[in-house]
Amino acid sequence: MEEIKKQFEQEISLVENLTDLNELKVKYLGKKGIITELNSKIKEIPNEEKKEYGQKVNALKNAFQTLYDEKKSSFEQALLEKKLQEEAIDISLPSTKVAMGSPNILEKLVEEIESLFMSMGYDVMDGPEIEEDRYNFELLNIPKGHPARDAQDTFYLKDDEILLRSQTSPVQIRSMLANKGEKAVRMICPGKTYRRDDDDATHSHQFMQIEGLLVDKNIHLTDLKGTFDVVAKRLFGKDTSVRLRPSYYQFTEPSVELDISCFNCKGKGCSICKNSGWITVAGAGMVHPNVLRNCGYDPSIWSGFAFGFGAERLAMLKYGIKDIRTFYMTDLREVKTFDRKEAKND
Ligand code: DAH
Repeated sequence: MEEIKKQFEQEISLVENLTDLNELKVKYLGKKGIITELNSKIKEIPNEEKKEYGQKVNALKNAFQTLYDEKKSSFEQALLEKKLQEEAIDISLPSTKVAMGSPNILEKLVEEIESLFMSMGYDVMDGPEIEEDRYNFELLNIPKGHPARDAQDTFYLKDDEILLRSQTSPVQIRSMLANKGEKAVRMICPGKTYRRDDDDATHSHQFMQIEGLLVDKNIHLTDLKGTFDVVAKRLFGKDTSVRLRPSYYQFTEPSVELDISCFNCKGKGCSICKNSGWITVAGAGMVHPNVLRNCGYDPSIWSGFAFGFGAERLAMLKYGIKDIRTFYMTDLREVKTFDRKEAKND
């Protein structure tokens, strides 16, 4: 047994990998291995020595097992270290720079306007950009063949009935219809609109409007003026004054243009206000009785005002941007300057 032990120790010391180690294990500790053989020889041992013999074989087996376990775990440890080394990450390498995005300046302004109107109790609504003719025109008091349709050169998608909305005013109609002529409506709707315009510094085939509508009892033109005054002062500074100028829209009567005093020259006259001291920022008016009726509101009980801002125009004025296409291009050199643009008012 001493010999066998020495031999095992000698052989295991020469083993260099797990496969050879396993072979050695089979040879000594396997089912047909040396230890099994020694155990089977117990038959030949005289009875009184059997016990001692058995103990010795057992001790030998344990010694083999211990040596085998030690060797195995040293191999495994070495393998693990090798793997760790191979998969090591060099955390001292400088990382790739991630460019941080920032909100589009137009989006920022729209959000500012949304929270202003929400603070006055308005809901922010959404409507489809692919719209039906009757919402975009007919129920707004612009019947088929009406010359006013020409002013909004429209993208028709199907049979003069389905179109890309040319204004956000159809969302007024949808909001009133949803309230069935029974409840007051206070809503704004910022959204994309489309017209067959050639793109230049002040026109874009896709642009954004912010529609507003308030329908209730006892609403007058002065309410529109008061509301506009709050909005103008918030957006363009406390010393901004407002004026209403007569205009014409089919869905309002009377109709007005909403002007603000020029924030740049304070009314003296400059290139921004084209020397008039005033800048037009929205179309508006009192909701036409036909429109109220079309949506189930009795004009002898209900009245209201509506307005439509051009979102890009507001942002261009507020941030001194000269070209409407700036909002829609993807040139990062320009887009990155959005973050640094300062409002032109206080
Ligand atoms: N929809 C009009 C346009 O696109 C803007 C407008 C004017 C909206 C007067 C209104 C309004 O709600 O009352 O030119």
